[in-house]
Amino acid sequence: SASVPKPFAAYAPSNIALSKYWGKRDHARNLPLNSSLSISLADWGSHTQVSPSDDGQDHVTLGGKELALDTPFAAKALRFADLFRTHAASAPLRIDTNNTIPTAAGLASSASGFAALTRAICGCFGLTETLSEAQMSLIARLGSGSATRSFWHGFVRWDKGTREDGADSFAHPLDLNWPEFRIAILPVDVGPKSQSSRDGMNHTVVTSPLFNSWPDQAEADCAAIESAIKEQDFETLGPLVEANALAMHATMQAARPALTYLTSESWTLLERLWRARQDGLRAFATMDAGANIKLIFLKQAATDVMEIFPQAQMIDPFSKP
Ligand code: PMV
Repeated sequence: SASVPKPFAAYAPSNIALSKYWGKRDHARNLPLNSSLSISLADWGSHTQVSPSDDGQDHVTLGGKELALDTPFAAKALRFADLFRTHAASAPLRIDTNNTIPTAAGLASSASGFAALTRAICGCFGLTETLSEAQMSLIARLGSGSATRSFWHGFVRWDKGTREDGADSFAHPLDLNWPEFRIAILPVDVGPKSQSSRDGMNHTVVTSPLFNSWPDQAEADCAAIESAIKEQDFETLGPLVEANALAMHATMQAARPALTYLTSESWTLLERLWRARQDGLRAFATMDAGANIKLIFLKQAATDVMEIFPQAQMIDPFSKP
């Protein structure tokens, strides 16, 4: 039943993969070659409101500023909204987004952005009663793979699924509290990324001779990382998370031509971390399609982390509902 669109506001947290999604088996449906597992970033995320437009035109704002409809952000949001408009309504929309991720952290907001947009469009079109969060996670996948994992707080796993139509490829929360778990961002490059994760992934899958070993290794890492989280075994978890991220970056480095998101400053920070670990620090690194370093550690290491990395922006992922 087509209900009248009404304004609807939603929030979604950003997330950092502890076991990475890297490589698609289906481009049109955005289906991954391997499962992935993330931690959500509590109040770092996207607030999005979707409302019927009152002047017959689409409007997109970001951080309170109206965007030209052909800017990449507006164009992507509207293209995603069109997935709903062909079914539910063809009404012109107003999409207002505010990101609470500190700009200085240099984190991409596509995961929280597409998750919040999915929730808000579903609410606007009166679909929240008929669609489960799992179904919304599946829909958000079409906007950005990592958005599947931004519908819940805490640890979230995106199962790759096996079906060709992608009906079993969505995320679910691990439903587990680990109050001592911490994550910190070490900002390196806060500008726009050199190459989108979409392009970087495709280039790696197509040209990197090291990519062949990635899907099986990533699937095994994801299972081992999930068990370590369930057992709250940080000494097993930390090394697995760091190895998984470095293996992903190794597939890129072997691409032809090579793809490198990490800069000399990233490597300097990694070397500082590894030296501190030899001196007893229990913190481990993970890196995505950008130069920034993210650290995971437990509360008892927080003071040492802040002393060694004063620039660290620390997040307590279980502090918020
Ligand atoms: O779905 P995308 O385009 O945001 O790709 C995410 C890729 C990585 O951030 C590198 C890994 C991940 O699982 O988040």
